[in-house]
Amino acid sequence: MIVLGIETSCDETCSAVLEYSENQQCNILSNTVHSQISEHTEYGGVVPEIAARSHINSIDLVIQKSIRDANINFSSLDAIAVTSGPGLKGGLLVGVTFAKTMASILKKPLLGINHLEGHALTIRITEKIKFPYLLLLVTGGHTQLLIVKGVGHYERLGTTIDDALGEAYDKIAKSLNLGYPGGPIIEKLAEGNDGSTVSLPRPLHNSKEMNFSFSGLKTAVKREIDSSLPLNDKSLSNICAAFQASVIDILKNKLQMAVDYFKEKYSEDINVVLAGGVASNKTIFAAISELSLRKNFNVYVAPKELCTDNAAMIAWAGIERINSGNHDPERVNIRTRWPLDENAVKVRGAGVKA
Ligand code: KG4
Ligand code: ZN
Repeated sequence: MIVLGIETSCDETCSAVLEYSENQQCNILSNTVHSQISEHTEYGGVVPEIAARSHINSIDLVIQKSIRDANINFSSLDAIAVTSGPGLKGGLLVGVTFAKTMASILKKPLLGINHLEGHALTIRITEKIKFPYLLLLVTGGHTQLLIVKGVGHYERLGTTIDDALGEAYDKIAKSLNLGYPGGPIIEKLAEGNDGSTVSLPRPLHNSKEMNFSFSGLKTAVKREIDSSLPLNDKSLSNICAAFQASVIDILKNKLQMAVDYFKEKYSEDINVVLAGGVASNKTIFAAISELSLRKNFNVYVAPKELCTDNAAMIAWAGIERINSGNHDPERVNIRTRWPLDENAVKVRGAGVKA
C-alpha cells in the first residue's frame, strides 16, 4: 500500500509518501518539509494569514517533490491522507482543498487525519510498540498526557490549563529576542548549565491532577529577564537553563503520576512515548530516560524529523486507520478544534488546547 500524506495545519507545508508492505514494514519513500520559519521569525510566532498564503504558494511544488523523491507516479498511490484538524483554519483549508481535488481527479480514497493522532502514532513507524502505551504529547499547541489504547482510542489524563509547552518556549525566546521557534535555541543556550543559579516556580507541583500550567512560569522568567538586564552570555544561559530545569521537573512529576495510574490499570510493560516538537529536546529526553530507569518503564521518542511537524506521520496515521478498518467514509471536513479524547472533561482555561 502506498499512501501520500499532506500536512498544512501550522507553519510547515509538508508532503510524504509511505509504503507499507505485506510483512508490516513501513518505508518512508519521501518526506518533504517546506518550512515557513523565515517568514514568521520577525513576528516571534506564527502569523495565520502569512501561513495560509505561504501554504498556497508552495503546496503544489512540495507535493510534486515528494512524489519525485519517492520515485513513483501519482497513479501508484492507493490513498491520500490529509490533516483536517486541529490547527489554523486557513492552512487546513489549503491542504484539505488540495487533497480533495487530487483525490477526485485521481479517483483515490481520501482520509481526513487528526494532526495529534499523527504525532501519537508516529513512533509505530520505527518501533514495534503495542497498544496501550502512555503518551506525553508536547507541541506548540498542546501539552497532554494520554493513554493510547488503539487507533482512534485515547484517554486523556492531563492537559495544560493555559500555555502549551512549545508555546512557552517560543514566548520566552521572543522576550529574549532569540527568534522563532524558541525551543531549539533555548535548549542550546541551556546546554551544560544545570539552571541552579536562578530560582523559578514549578506550577501545579502539589496538585493531585495530571494537568500542566506554564503561564506562571513564563511570567516568572520574564520577571527574571527584566531584573537581569542587560543580559550577557552567562545570565542568558542561566535563565534558559533554569526555565528548562523547571520544565523537566514539571514533566517528570506529572509523568510519574501517569505511570503509576497506568501501572494500576494495565499489567503489561509500561511503554512511554514522547511525541511532538518539544520531544526532540535531548535534555528533556535524557532526564525522562533517567527517570525511566528508576521507575521501571521504557521510553521512546521518534527521530527529530518525525517529532516536529511532517507529513510522514499523517500518511502513517492514514495507514493505521486503513489497517484497523477505522476510517471515516464521510466527507472530509476541517475541524480547528479536535481533541483526541472527545469524552475528556473540559478543563477551565485549556480552550482549544484540550
Ligand atoms: O509538533 P510541532 O512541530 O508543531 C505543533 O504541532 O505545534 O511543535 C513545534 C514546537 C515549537 O513550539 C518549538 O519551539 C518546539 O516545538 N520545539 C522544541 C524543540 N524543537 C522544537 N522545544 C524544545 N526543545 C526543542 N529542541
Ligand atoms: Zn504538530
